[in-house]
Parts: sequence; structure tokens; C-alpha cells
Amino acid sequence: MILTITAALVVFIYLALRLRGNRRQRGLPHPPGPQPRPVIGNLLDVPTVEPWVTYTQWEKKYGDIMSMQVLGTFIVILQSPSAARDLLDKHSAIYSDRPVLPFFQMMDLDWAIPLARFTERWRRGRRILERGLRPSMTALYHPTQKAKVHLFLKHLLERPERFREHIEHLQGAILMAITYGYDVKEGEDRLLEKARALVALAAATVMPGALLVNDMPFLRYLPEWLPGMGFKVLARNGRALSKDVIHEPFAFVKGTIESGMAALSMAREILAEHPEPESQDHIAMALGSLYSDTTVSTLLSFFLALLKYPAVQEKAQAELDAVTGGHRLPDYEDRPRLPYINALCMELLRWRMVAPLVDDVYRGYFIPKGAIVLANPWAALHDPAVYPAPDTFNPERFLTPDGHVKDDPLLTTVFGFGKRICPGRHVVDETLFIVVAYVLATFDVRHARDADGNPVPADPAYMGMQTSKPEPFECSITPRSKAAEVLIAAND
Ligand code: HEM
Repeated sequence: MILTITAALVVFIYLALRLRGNRRQRGLPHPPGPQPRPVIGNLLDVPTVEPWVTYTQWEKKYGDIMSMQVLGTFIVILQSPSAARDLLDKHSAIYSDRPVLPFFQMMDLDWAIPLARFTERWRRGRRILERGLRPSMTALYHPTQKAKVHLFLKHLLERPERFREHIEHLQGAILMAITYGYDVKEGEDRLLEKARALVALAAATVMPGALLVNDMPFLRYLPEWLPGMGFKVLARNGRALSKDVIHEPFAFVKGTIESGMAALSMAREILAEHPEPESQDHIAMALGSLYSDTTVSTLLSFFLALLKYPAVQEKAQAELDAVTGGHRLPDYEDRPRLPYINALCMELLRWRMVAPLVDDVYRGYFIPKGAIVLANPWAALHDPAVYPAPDTFNPERFLTPDGHVKDDPLLTTVFGFGKRICPGRHVVDETLFIVVAYVLATFDVRHARDADGNPVPADPAYMGMQTSKPEPFECSITPRSKAAEVLIAAND
């Protein structure tokens, strides 16, 4: 009891001091925001469900740069692309840093490119990923993507009600094949499960307030037997997991190279260019950073959009049928003749953004050093002045009146800003296209029906602080025709 009271007192005093430390300096005000409470700051104001929507509403009240304090951490939200671009794009060498999180340090996680600070290691890793994921390279993986998506169609045909699992499997299968030439096993795959577990652990612990040790780094030096020290066990397990994620698939690919059996992959190509021993760790870490389940969320939104907007589905299917005649699956070469499908992919990126909030560290003097800066591209991509009826899924907003795809520079903000812009964006573009085209060519997606034949509502909330995913929802997925079933059943 005395121990708990003492611990609570220490926490209280520490947080009060941190909050004081964040006070404005040199007479410059902080950006406006909700009034912080003593000690906990704005902890109770932070929205937990779809925070980007609340932040967007707050823009009217506080303007395009606002701030909050959560426990000891200062958070700045950049609502407009011009504010975000100004800080994160033009000055990205200074601002596109990442916060140093004590919990991630305990896990030795600074090798992971998305979480790494702006260091030489990040630069080398980033160069590796950019080279390996440039469009001339990603085009080489078209056959891999098609084979994996074809398998996905078969899974949908067999167990349509498990579409969420199939999408998760598909995303893992594409990434592991492109990165390592590794074929994930049906059902549970050990390497994939580990990558997933690590990403889930990082996502669950990254946001301010998620783990006390991130706000009070001294806690990591206290003994494990004290109450509230569970994070130490979590960090120890996370450290072991993180080592496996780097080394196990890398060992696999090296083994296949030695035996002359390596399939085309980023790892094989990069290792051929850089066989020198001193590069091996850099390559292993950069590649280990590539597992991300962000595309899963966009693909779930695709099924949701189809069941909610049947007219969009019909129009897209008509365009595909006109090009393929319904006798074959679509292909990447058909893309220039499929403007509506391309616009649909763009609308998918905008409609329910996967990463509505992008974080960076801002080191300006009127914002305390070490503050977290969140850009809110959601606000711009849901601005009714630019995207009328922004909540409606409408691919036509990306088409000119004569049916050509419009260029939309704002849309790239879904992939972030400046030097940290998503290096996987070309792969994403190609995955989205082929999934959208294959699924629409072969299946109808509609509302599921209950026992009385009434449509089951599908309005899932999007959960997650930094990357968002829809909560489970039901839908009915049936082959469009006998001919479609034959296409699905065919071998590549
Ligand atoms: C719909 C799918 C995706 C979206 C919307 C997306 C979006 C983003 C965003 C917003 C960032 C942060 C950029 C910033 O801080 O300014 C990012 C970073 C990153 N993404 Fe993606 N991403 C997607 C899929 C992927 C895929 C499939 C890969 C791997 C092939 C990938 C690899 C990465 C990496 C390695 C980073 C860290 C870059 C760095 O910190 O330098 N992403 N992504």
C-alpha cells in the first residue's frame, strides 16, 4: 500500500514538472487547443475513436495549427496540407524525425525504418528500400502479384465469409514474396505471424498515453517485481521477436541463394549488388522493416465501398467487361483502358484513409523540443470545398468530364510528406489495381442478409490511432457467373 502511494506520488510530481517544462518560452504562445487540466493535461480530450474526424472538426475552432498536452507529451496537429508541407516537406531534413520512445529503445527497435530517427542507418536503409521499390523494379513483381491475387480469388470462392482473413493472408503473401521470394504457407505461417506480431505490438504502444514508461523514461530502471512493471516483460519478448523478424527471413533467402533456388525478390537483387559482409546487417534491417498491414485496411474498405455503392460496382464491372469480354482476367496492360477502375483505386486511398495522421518531431522553439507533430491529411482530403460530399465513395471525382483520370497532387498526402514519404507507394498502387480488377471481374459483393432476408447493416467504425482499420463487418461475396467461376478455378 505504502509502495503504491509512493509510486502514485512520484508519478504525480514527475508529470506536473513535465507539464511545467512544456510552458511557453520567450513570450511566444503555443498553438491554440483545448485547455489542459493539471498534471494529466488533455488526456481526457484525446478522441479514441476516429480521432482524425474530431481533429478535423477542431480545425474550425482552433485554426490549421493546434496543440495539446497528453501527460508530459506535447502534441501539435497540422490540419492543412500547406502547414504540413511547409514543415514536413520543405524542411523535412529538420522536421521529419521520429520521437525517441523509451519502450522502443528497450526493444532495440530503432532498426525499423518507419520508427528510426533521422540517422545514417535510416538513410542507408531508406536508399535500399527506394532502389528496391522503384517502379522499374516493382513492375518485375507483376507475375507474383497476379499469382497471389488469383489464389486470393480461390480462397474467396471457397470461404467467402472469411474475406478479412483472406485479405490479411494476401497482403502478407505479396510482401513476403516480393521482399524475400518466400511463399507463405496456407493457414498460419511462422515468419508472417512474427512480422505481424511485431507490427501489432509497435502499433499498440506508440501513441502518447499508451505506456507510462514512454512519458516517464526513468520507470525502465525500476525492478521488475514492482507493480506496473509488466512493460518490462513485454519489452523483453518484443526484443526477441524483433531479432527474429530481421534474421529469420534473411537467413531463408541466403539459404536459397546458396542452393541456387532463390526466386526473384528484393533481397536477391540487393544482395547481388551488395555482397560485401559489412552491408549485410543494413540490408537485413531495411528488408525487415517492410512488413506493413496498411494495405489490408484499404482492401477492407474496398469491400465495404462495393456493398454500400452498388452503382459504382456495376459501372466498374461494365468497364472491365468491355475490355476483357468477360473471357479472361484483367491484366496490368489493360490499365490505360480502365480509367474508372483507376479512379476507383484513387478514391479508395482517399475515402477511408489508412494513415489519417502522420507523425513527426518538430523542433521549433515555440513548440517544446521533442514534441510530436501530427499532420492531418484527412482534413484536406475530406474538405467539402475540394471534394464535394467527401464521405460519399465516388470514383468520378477523379475523372475529367471526357472520362480521363485527373491528376490530383493532394492525394499523394495519403503516403505522407517529404523525405519520409512511403517507399511502398508503387507496390500499393499495383496491388490495389490488380485486386480491384480481379475481384470486380469475378465476384459480386453485396450486403449480407439475415435469416429474414433483410440486409445486415455495415457501418464499421475505423479503429486505431495512427493507422486505422474497419471493425469487422459482414458481406456477401458470390461469383458473378459460371464463366467467372471457371476463370477463378483455372490455373495461372
Ligand atoms: C495503403 C497502403 C499504404 C499507405 C496508405 C501507406 C502510407 C504511409 C505513410 C503515411 C507513411 C509515413 C510517411 C511520413 O512519415 O511522412 C508510410 C511510411 C512507410 N511505409 Fe507505407 N503505406 C502503405 C503501404 C506500405 C507498404 C505495402 C509498404 C512496404 C512495401 C510500406 C512501407 C513503408 C515504410 C518502410 C515506411 C517508412 C518510411 C520512412 O520512415 O522513411 N508502406 N507509409
